[in-house]
Amino acid sequence: MQSFEKLLLENKAWAAEKKEDDPNFFKRLEHVQAPEFLWIGCSDSRVPANEITGTLPGEIFVHRNIANLVVPNDLNMLSVLEYAVTHLKVKHVIVCGHHNCGGIKAAMTDHSFGIIDNWIRHIKDVYNEHREEIDAVGDEGARVNHLVECSVRQQVINISQTETIRKAWAKERRPHIHGWVYGLKDGLLKPVFSMAPPVKEELYQLL
Ligand code: CO
Repeated sequence: MQSFEKLLLENKAWAAEKKEDDPNFFKRLEHVQAPEFLWIGCSDSRVPANEITGTLPGEIFVHRNIANLVVPNDLNMLSVLEYAVTHLKVKHVIVCGHHNCGGIKAAMTDHSFGIIDNWIRHIKDVYNEHREEIDAVGDEGARVNHLVECSVRQQVINISQTETIRKAWAKERRPHIHGWVYGLKDGLLKPVFSMAPPVKEELYQLL
């Protein structure tokens, strides 16, 4: 059997098991999704949103890219954000970075990665901004993880500045934006930064 055929076989077993546990599982999800969360994570295969949060299909709307970036002119990300916030009405947006992220590591070197350089340039900007404090950190692994945290923080801020969020905050005081970092060593999520919708008195600044 080829490796990809194993996936199809495993899928059959999974679907059968789900149906056995809950005969209405697929029926419920067939026509409607009402997730409470939007997840913006890294494409890294070791950080699967549903699995590490113990959530089921239907619970998290997901967008993933290299190093979980929120680039202001990325139409793909902006469309996912708009759909999740304005149409699905998610209550929480989670940006999740992870330790030892390849995209972050790449941004800390002078190597060229071809077309990917255009993408990781956005991480280099964050690196340059925090260069002094990051370079002061002891070993290389810790420096990478420090930039991972700085970047997650920046992505949360970037989301908060989108038109989609400004509108949702002003009209519905939702969603809450969270920046988390996943530890590859222990499988634990660590909250590092968050932004709540502004209180009423601050709302006029958004309008
Ligand atoms: Co990564």
